[in-house]
Amino acid sequence: MSELTSLMQLIDWNNLPRHIAIIMDGNGRWATQKGLPRIAGHRAGMETLKKIISFSCEIKIPILTFYAFSTENWRRPPQEVNFLMRLPHEYIRSELQNLIDNNIRLKMSGDIEGLPQHTQKAVREALKKTEKNSGMILNFALNYGGRKEIINAVREIAAKVKQGEMSVDEINEDTFSQSLYTARLHDPDLLIRPSGEMRLSNFLLWQLAYAELWFSDVYWPDFTEEHLLQAIYNYQKRDRRYGGIEL
Ligand code: IPE
Ligand code: IPE
Ligand code: MG
Repeated sequence: MSELTSLMQLIDWNNLPRHIAIIMDGNGRWATQKGLPRIAGHRAGMETLKKIISFSCEIKIPILTFYAFSTENWRRPPQEVNFLMRLPHEYIRSELQNLIDNNIRLKMSGDIEGLPQHTQKAVREALKKTEKNSGMILNFALNYGGRKEIINAVREIAAKVKQGEMSVDEINEDTFSQSLYTARLHDPDLLIRPSGEMRLSNFLLWQLAYAELWFSDVYWPDFTEEHLLQAIYNYQKRDRRYGGIEL
């Protein structure tokens, strides 16, 4: 029996994470290890992304969020940044029809206005074309920074209070969440980070408060359906106490 089949038998299909967030990390090291330029790693990473999206859709994960570009990734050399800014384009060109056929709704979390015009155009068009879809939600954290997101929310709320549209008493965890990029999305139940790094790198700082974390040494281009199922299986064995105790 293949590993995939045996993992499929171990999974409790009634207890899937409602939202899985993935930090796609390790593309550069994957390429360097093979004597290839870093961008070859990003290209290979995109193939992994397509594979994991299609599998997650098959197994009916309701929401997937992928960290694609952080607000700190602008610090990389311009050639790499330019390449990364072309990838959303490429991804949309090759996959949009597929997303539509599979009833997938695309979402973006991040400072979209801070992206180059051509990236923005591709992204906005894809958002529009999938906005009525009612199946899996595919969310990309693009030009995303958790601290920036929180500051934006604070500013938005402060402006509402100043204009008398909201009272200070109305500021609570629910209303605050509604001012984040991820408004109306359930918080992730499971965070996956490959590549051996064990940090959040400014990803979903508010939303991951009670997520289960799963790390692996595998580089993102080598990440497989089996790894996803291992993470889900491991998640299902965790005792999510939320600060309480077993009675
Ligand atoms: C993740 O891979 C992709 C992005 C950050 C865009 P990296 O490019 O960070 O790969 P490593 O961590 O350098 O190996
Ligand atoms: C996080 O990975 C960002 C993305 C995967 C898009 P990084 O490679 O940028 O994170 P650090 O620099 O190792 O913390
Ligand atoms: Mg990295």
